[in-house]
Amino acid sequence: MLRFVLLLCVVALVNGQSTPVKQCIANSGPLPINAYIEGCTQTPCNLPQLQDAVINITFKAPENINRMRTLATAYFSGILAIPYNLHENAETCNFLTNTNCPVKKDDTIQYALKIYIQPIFPVGIETTLEVEINDFDRNSSVVCVRVPVRIVGPVNSGDGDNNVNIA
Ligand SMILES: *[C@@H]1O[C@H](CO)[C@@H](O)[C@H](O)[C@H]1NC(C)=O
Ligand SMILES: *[C@@H]1O[C@H](CO)[C@@H](O)[C@H](O)[C@H]1NC(C)=O
Repeated sequence: MLRFVLLLCVVALVNGQSTPVKQCIANSGPLPINAYIEGCTQTPCNLPQLQDAVINITFKAPENINRMRTLATAYFSGILAIPYNLHENAETCNFLTNTNCPVKKDDTIQYALKIYIQPIFPVGIETTLEVEINDFDRNSSVVCVRVPVRIVGPVNSGDGDNNVNIA
């Protein structure tokens, strides 16, 4: 038992931190090995406006894959779905941190996604984000994470911990 606990500690250290993300509901795809939204170990994650939210995802390639794209969708009240344009950040392969595309089946891949938080999302709003990594050639889901987030004011403006809930 002690040995098991020690092993868990070692695994936790190696993997770094985690954000408690859930399996997607609106999109398909299994959970990754690990997901960490920088600065967030408890949901909803506070995402400051005017900067990139950084999501580190570690996953295993289910197939040989040539190209991937990342799709982000914000869900409000479980009804309204707003696709979030990631622009050049949607080109998943450009943001792998331990390998390059094409990737091989069963490779363990580390990926750092940046999502720029536009001021168009008002401070205090809460939404649930689903982020899917999609196999471009097959149009199939590789992994997907679902996480509640809350938009907060820009960090440098002094209202970064604004918690006003307009919902
Ligand atoms: C997330 O990934 C980026 C790019 O590899 C890295 O610089 C950063 O340290 C990672 N953050 C964590 C908390 O692992
Ligand atoms: C990918 O598949 C989804 C449904 O599984 C579909 O809605 C979407 O239009 C497809 N995208 C492309 C680019 O074919």
